[in-house]
Amino acid sequence: MTGLTDLLARRRSTKAYRRDPIDADVLRDLVATVAGPSRHGRRGHGSAHARYDVHITVITHAVTGVAAAAYRYDQPLDDLVPVTTGDFLAAVADATIDADWLADCPAALVLSADTAAADDAFADQGKDRGTRFCWIETGLIAQNVYLWAAETGFGTVLLGGVDDDAIAAAAAQWLPPGHIVTAVMPVGTVPH
Ligand SMILES: Cc1cc2nc3c(=O)[nH]c(=O)nc-3n(C[C@H](O)[C@H](O)[C@H](O)COP(=O)(O)O)c2cc1C
Repeated sequence: MTGLTDLLARRRSTKAYRRDPIDADVLRDLVATVAGPSRHGRRGHGSAHARYDVHITVITHAVTGVAAAAYRYDQPLDDLVPVTTGDFLAAVADATIDADWLADCPAALVLSADTAAADDAFADQGKDRGTRFCWIETGLIAQNVYLWAAETGFGTVLLGGVDDDAIAAAAAQWLPPGHIVTAVMPVGTVPH
């Protein structure tokens, strides 16, 4: 099998995680791989007009070497930058429809976008076009996270079933201004 064929064969959603902490470098590797510039200065996913409207916030709960907090992936810096200290994962879990277990995961990525700004940018293409592109870009990044997980052996899943009002309240302290949450993706070790 080719590398990609093998990765796609191993791609899966994980909905049970070990509580063991993961290392902060795992998260740095993850965000740099799925959203950062490659050796050639390119990204692993496309973006309409190369706007890169979808941002990643990393919520840490049990991560060795860093406090429980919300971190923003800073693309030019290619690093995780603290936004607000605190353990926010239980509140995010409460905002999901069916993923209470998320509260005990080591960490989660929260994908988000300013869809109103994107709609303004793409107004010439039609109503809500920017919003549509943000959801498509979210899917591209999410698949990259799945492929990273298949390669590294860590677990993830795309949690799209979230209560919009509850997640907005849970994320109020750390979501970029004007953003809505488009996906929540836990990261952790898969039980044997
Ligand atoms: C758009 C989307 C939304 C999803 N939302 C949830 C969710 O809210 N909760 C959940 O447990 N799984 C969610 N999943 C994961 C699916 O349950 C999972 O992809 C499906 O069962 C197929 O399993 P696989 O990914 O291992 O192939 C979602 C998947 C997608 C693509």
